[in-house]
Amino acid sequence: MLIDTHAHVNDERLLPFAADIHDGLHAAGIEKAVVVGFDRDSSKHAVRLADSYEAYYASVGIHPHDSDSASSGDYALFEELAKLPKCVAIGEIGLDYYYDLSDRETQKRVFAEQIELAYSLKKPIIVHVRDAYGDALSILKGYASRLAYSGVMHCYSGSAESMREFVRLGLYIAFGGAVTFKNFSKSDVVRAVPAERLLLETDCPYMTPVPFRGKDNRPEYIGLVRDKIQEWRQDICVEEVTYKNAKTLFNI
Ligand code: NI
Repeated sequence: MLIDTHAHVNDERLLPFAADIHDGLHAAGIEKAVVVGFDRDSSKHAVRLADSYEAYYASVGIHPHDSDSASSGDYALFEELAKLPKCVAIGEIGLDYYYDLSDRETQKRVFAEQIELAYSLKKPIIVHVRDAYGDALSILKGYASRLAYSGVMHCYSGSAESMREFVRLGLYIAFGGAVTFKNFSKSDVVRAVPAERLLLETDCPYMTPVPFRGKDNRPEYIGLVRDKIQEWRQDICVEEVTYKNAKTLFNI
């Protein structure tokens, strides 16, 4: 069986189909999907979905894009939502210097505040980083003592060298549909991730794998990600290893 560790069924593009998507999970070989929040409303939706559907789990947090609008009220809300046993992580949080939709200093502060929040709630973190691996690494190193409940570098696109640093901090490394793209240049990184830290995800409705480019991504396409990674990882059974890792990380 598979676990999709990063699915935005709470995104407005997929939310109307949440029940249908849930019904289709089993046939696609998927046992569970972590519905990841990215702001206040999507976090509430994630928790509601986890509460209503057996296979959905939730994560709550503020995406770096929305750091400018983060408030202490949001953290109080997340603290409340995180009491639900099926709320399994804080995220997605992190830094995005590609879009720069929020001021960089604010992104760093809000990232750090949510690392602290996750630690106080005894939850792992789900980390989004784009064009900011250097700063993300120094923040995470500074908060190494706050990573006792681990976390995952989602949709990893950094170097093999940085990957090893994140692994040394106890974090997991997740790959999604990007591995199927023609221009994906990080197969060496996929090969180098220690088996016990590798995870699969879709990041749906984004990052739709080949051959469904142009359509909204869905959890059911995660098998394409598994198959591509399996080509590069003859040393392990990717499905078995990533299933076990997801259960360990999220305690599900
Ligand atoms: Ni995401």
